[in-house]
Formats: sequence, structure tokens, C-alpha cells
Amino acid sequence: MGLWMLLLLLLLLQFHLGNAPRIESGGKCGGLNGLCVALPAPTKVSISSFNLEHTLSFLPGPETPPDTHFTVQILRFRKSTWKLVTGCSELVVGQTCNLTRVLKDPFQSYQARVQAFTPNQNQTSKWTISKRFLPQSDTVIGPPDVSVSGCGNCLLLYVTVPKTSGLQQDKQLQLLYRDLHIHVHRTRDGVQFKLNLEYKEENMISYLQPGVEYCVTVTVAVFFNSNSVPSKPFCAFTSPPPRSSLNVVFCLLGAFCVIGFFLIGVVVYGGQLSYELLRRRLPRSL
Ligand SMILES: *[C@@H]1O[C@H](CO)[C@@H](O)[C@H](O)[C@H]1NC(C)=O
Ligand SMILES: *[C@@H]1O[C@H](CO)[C@@H](O)[C@H](O)[C@H]1NC(C)=O
Repeated sequence: MGLWMLLLLLLLLQFHLGNAPRIESGGKCGGLNGLCVALPAPTKVSISSFNLEHTLSFLPGPETPPDTHFTVQILRFRKSTWKLVTGCSELVVGQTCNLTRVLKDPFQSYQARVQAFTPNQNQTSKWTISKRFLPQSDTVIGPPDVSVSGCGNCLLLYVTVPKTSGLQQDKQLQLLYRDLHIHVHRTRDGVQFKLNLEYKEENMISYLQPGVEYCVTVTVAVFFNSNSVPSKPFCAFTSPPPRSSLNVVFCLLGAFCVIGFFLIGVVVYGGQLSYELLRRRLPRSL
């Protein structure tokens, strides 16, 4: 009952926006006995987004005939006309719609809607509308590309936008990058600290211990977006590690052992030799 009221309200609202001719909600009924059987409306219409790459997905309504097709339209918020998405006008069950090019302004709100129709288009379903989608705040910000190298008692940290498949998209993503949340972890003893820097490609983490390995995890922060995924840890030595004193001790010990065995060998062999000589000489001198 509540759902019907809601739908009615939506319809009235749309009518008010002057959008009436575009509502072909129920099926176009006709055919036998004036019976009116609309197609089931699609369900779970949602937009997912990773690094500003947007994908619309949906499920067919229950008991949707197998040869049903689906069409997608989008609405820019504050504009009142729905626009057909080219390339998504004849989807079948299981297909998704790539909205990356269509929802191209990250700061603009959008909605999408999906309708089922029969191949000969004499039957359609009601439209199912997605939630409002704002690319800037709804996209998942993936881990950036990171590289770390030592600079004495510091680390140089390079952070760049991960290479996606579109140049335009990379530029927009870079525009969204606001801050870097950096987590630093000293490998030897697990000492760790956090650091927030304004986003730039080249960064320096100073006041570190020389000759020690640190691991760095980077998360990109974006305004009004809490969907950032941290990078994996990237590790580097601040400067080449000194040869550990323990190694020196082991080397010396090894050297002493070799010399020791050699001396023992000499002594034993020498002893045997002199004993042999002694035995050979003994009978003659007796
Ligand atoms: C739609 O058209 C097909 C063939 O063109 C027909 O068999 C079917 O009855 C029609 N369905 C409706 C609901 O009008
Ligand atoms: C979606 O479209 C964008 C822009 O054309 C493209 O870069 C991206 O690879 C497409 N994604 C998929 C999953 O096809």
C-alpha cells in the first residue's frame, strides 16, 4: 500500500516537473481480450564506481520472460529530462551499463533508471530508479601508485594517480586528490606513526633513522568521500644498512675456525710423519 502511494507521489512529482510525456510507466496494453499485463520492473538498480569508473547494474524483476531487454536513461540533477544512454538501450539480463562517459562531471548529482521491454516493444515495465549518485563522494578511491626510496635520514615518497584506461578520467581523479594519509612503520621494532600531507606527487618524510628500513602505506583523502582504499605497504631503507657487527663477529669466528683446523691438521700430520720416521730409524739404531 505504502509503495503505491510512493509511486503515485513520484508520478505526480514528475508530472509537476513537466516530464509527463516521458512516463510510459505501465505496459502498453492491448492484444487479446483487452488484458493488460505489464512486464515486471527491474530491481536492484544501482551505480557502483571505482576511481571514477561508473557501472550501472540491475536484476530482472521476478518472472521476467527470458527474451526481455532493458534500457537505461540518466537524469542530471536539476535538469528535468531523462536522457537515453547510448550503448545501453538493449541490454539483456546479466549485462551492465558503463556510465563512465555519461556521468562525467564528478561534482554533479545523477540518477539512473532502467526499464524492461519486449523485443517488439509492445510491452514495457515501469521504470526503476537508482539512488542519487554523486561521483565525487560515491566513487571508491582506489590505492594510488606509490614508490619509496631512501635519502639518508629521510624517505622520498612518490604518489601518482593509478593509470586507469582513460586519460580524462585520470585528470579528474587527480583533481579530487586532496590529502595523503601516510602510515609509517619501522620494520626492525614495529615503531609506527602517522602523517597527513597535502597531496603532491613528490613528498619527503624526514627525521628518520639512517640505515634502517621503513614501510609506508598511503591512503588518498578526498573531500566528502570516505571510501578510500589504502595502498599495500612499500618498504625502503633510508640509506644502505651498515654491515651488522654480528656479521663481523661471525666472519672472524669463521676465519679462526679455518686457521684452527689447518693448524690441527699440520700438527697431526707432522706428528704422524715424525713417528713414522722414528719407527723406520729405530731398528737401525738399536
Ligand atoms: C505483442 O506483439 C506480439 C507480436 O507482435 C503479439 O503476439 C503479442 O500478443 C503482443 N502483446 C501484447 C501484450 O500486445
Ligand atoms: C567504461 O568506459 C570507460 C570510458 O570509455 C573506459 O575507459 C572503461 O574501460 C570502460 N569500462 C569497462 C568495464 O568497460
